Amino acid sequence: MSENVTGKVSMEKLVSLCQRRGFIFPSSDIYGGLSACWDYGPVGVELKRNIKEAWWRASVQERDDMVGLDTSILMNPKVWEASGHVTKFSDPLVECKNCHQRWRADDLKENKCPDCGGELTEPQLFNLMFKTFMGPVEEAANIVYLRPETAQGIFVNFQNALNTSRKRLPFGVAQIGKAFRNEITTGNFIFRSREFEQMEIEYFVKPGTDDKWFDYWVEERLNWYIKLGIKKENIRLREHSKDELAHYAKRCFDIDYNFPMGWSELEGVANRGDFDLKQHMEYSGKSLTYLDEESKEHIVPYVIEPSAGVDRSVLAVLCDAYDEEIVNDELRVLFHFHTDLAPIKVAVLPLSRKENLAAVAKDVYADLRPCFVTQYDDTQAIGRRYRRQDELGTPYCVTVDFQSLEDKMATIRERDTMNQIRVPIPALRETLQAKLAGEDLFVLPEGGQIWKEGD
Ligand code: GAP
Repeated sequence: MSENVTGKVSMEKLVSLCQRRGFIFPSSDIYGGLSACWDYGPVGVELKRNIKEAWWRASVQERDDMVGLDTSILMNPKVWEASGHVTKFSDPLVECKNCHQRWRADDLKENKCPDCGGELTEPQLFNLMFKTFMGPVEEAANIVYLRPETAQGIFVNFQNALNTSRKRLPFGVAQIGKAFRNEITTGNFIFRSREFEQMEIEYFVKPGTDDKWFDYWVEERLNWYIKLGIKKENIRLREHSKDELAHYAKRCFDIDYNFPMGWSELEGVANRGDFDLKQHMEYSGKSLTYLDEESKEHIVPYVIEPSAGVDRSVLAVLCDAYDEEIVNDELRVLFHFHTDLAPIKVAVLPLSRKENLAAVAKDVYADLRPCFVTQYDDTQAIGRRYRRQDELGTPYCVTVDFQSLEDKMATIRERDTMNQIRVPIPALRETLQAKLAGEDLFVLPEGGQIWKEGD
């Protein structure tokens, strides 16, 4: 018997589980951590890779109108002058005159320090870009910035991408990579960090068709999350008001997720018009135009930009998949990850460590590993091991028991229903492949049988 007991997961619970099970750790933990920086553990790195892989597949591999890039983090500082980041990428900073805590002015509801109630200074603009020096001499002429977004690497490569890919408008360029922002207020786990990853698309279109493509990308990106299992009721669109729009944007929608702290931005889709290409033409003196075959004129394309955060996607997936239920009077905690995202696809669990059983289980493990991320676990009672895999969100557990030595069959247990089937060992790989692609558990291979319904 199982009974669902969860509402929304609290951030504290999620942070603790992520640390305990190897999803995410504070960065440089043994030194007390570093504010708003995080490390992905053995399980978290797989989840993150799967999210990036799903995005790349949908944004590049499966599309004829997109190509990818991987540009450098350090760029010529002129890039950030042209993009407006040097002058405009700032947040208003206030400091408490009493306890000297610093705050982002636009985050505060009242004009006093949230910590001690002290009086605040007048807001001063604080630039969010991290600075460092190129070469051995630390002087102003050698300042370079850690990129605060991956987008500019795409804009400055517009002509390179166009010429080498021979794409015609409309076409897009996708990039996944690290970005850095010296955020004033951080927090909410990996939601707002100082080092994070973005998945960005710059989609170049003919001026005049930009409204149509903007609507298209808003819809496309929203559906991407839903296809990966995010519940519709936890995701929404929110259009930016005129005074909220970034300096470059003509229109912008946030795709918000209902995180534990409330509705917050998961991704932004913006119509950047021709702002970026024109700026880079002016600052570099190079042409970033496109020869329109119809009009035979050189035009500056407009850009639609769906810009997603990898870490925020990880957080949304974790929150959305988290579940608790009571099974036989005990709490079962699990992640209902979509099979494409699950960090570990299959766990092989021998019922005992006895040599003859372990030998069969290890053969099974060796057979499955080249196909799926697979774990071998022979540590505790089988019930405890199932619960551990549930907490990792592993969709299928394969159990090798004493009967397997006789009948050459093993059981497959499904995470979500806890139902089990028993299948011939040589059919395991293909059966798991089919289940991971969405086949119902009770569709059996030849010689297979339904074994158990529920835990
Ligand atoms: N190129 C446009 C751009 O960078 P943005 O809204 O500033 O737009 C895009 O950032 C996405 O990057 C956000 O929707 C969010 O998912 C992610 N992001 C931005 N700042 C972040 C931070 N400090 N920590 C984690 N993710 C962040």
